[in-house]
Amino acid sequence: MALRGLLRVGEVCIRVMDMKKARRHYDEIMGLHEVMEGPDGKVYYKCWDEHDHHSIILNPSDRPGMDYFAFKVSSDSVLTDLEPKIEKFGLKVKHIAAGVYPKSGRRLEFVLPTGHTMHLYAEKEQIGNTMPTLNPGVTPDDGVVRGCHINRVDHLLLGGQHIQESARLFMEVFDFDLSERFVEKESQMPLAMFLTCSTKPHDIAFVLQPEQNKYHHTSFWLESSHDVTKAADRLGKYRVPIDVGPNRHGITRGATIYFFDPSGNRCEVFAEGYVHYPDTPTLTWDTTDAGHATFSQDNIVRESFLQVLT
Ligand SMILES: [Fe+2]
Repeated sequence: MALRGLLRVGEVCIRVMDMKKARRHYDEIMGLHEVMEGPDGKVYYKCWDEHDHHSIILNPSDRPGMDYFAFKVSSDSVLTDLEPKIEKFGLKVKHIAAGVYPKSGRRLEFVLPTGHTMHLYAEKEQIGNTMPTLNPGVTPDDGVVRGCHINRVDHLLLGGQHIQESARLFMEVFDFDLSERFVEKESQMPLAMFLTCSTKPHDIAFVLQPEQNKYHHTSFWLESSHDVTKAADRLGKYRVPIDVGPNRHGITRGATIYFFDPSGNRCEVFAEGYVHYPDTPTLTWDTTDAGHATFSQDNIVRESFLQVLT
């Protein structure tokens, strides 16, 4: 099946409490590229191998967390087709005109059953990845790939109360597959649900939380687990607070590190995993194997990983 409809997480707007420290974290240490500062103080970033103008927005605030996230869709007609389906699902859709969000075409905005504000858009100015589109070569000029060698935004993990309803929206309206789920053994109640619109093990995931509209992390994709190890060296050098050092998830099989920005928002760098096809069966993990499901190299369930969200 060709990839149409929702394509990927295209934008995450993260609240930060000290922009000077946040810039050092996301730009100098992680290696994202600052592309713009808005008149409202928002700072816009892209990862080197993304073609669109920006993917991460830092919003100056007095509290951490996520303001909204956005998926890019394959064409404007997808927005037209999806609007009545989202309304029929039971969510109120707000129209945002082109240009209200910088470099972006028109958007649909709605609030998920888990309390998160989500946008869909089809158009964003493309500025490229510094390599030509004719005979592009394989590696950009010196200095483009820097910091933690992050290629692109990969996925989001969000927390809230009604994760089955948010997952149902993604499956029934947005045509995502449920790639994996983590359930409570006795009741079979889903504690986390992993959803994909691509061949990645997940593009978005939801984890059950007592509070609505919580932000667990944005994940950034690296080319290899060797790069994950080198990123760990860098995070250690600059004394970045680590949540979970290099390990491998059972769920998604990703090689991973979790760490915090200076406002306490969690970030992940991630590599590898498996290929998901539309006929790949949903994988289920339960609480009898929680350690291996979360961190498969030492099988330790981290309370901080499950309970610290912004
Ligand atoms: Fe992740």
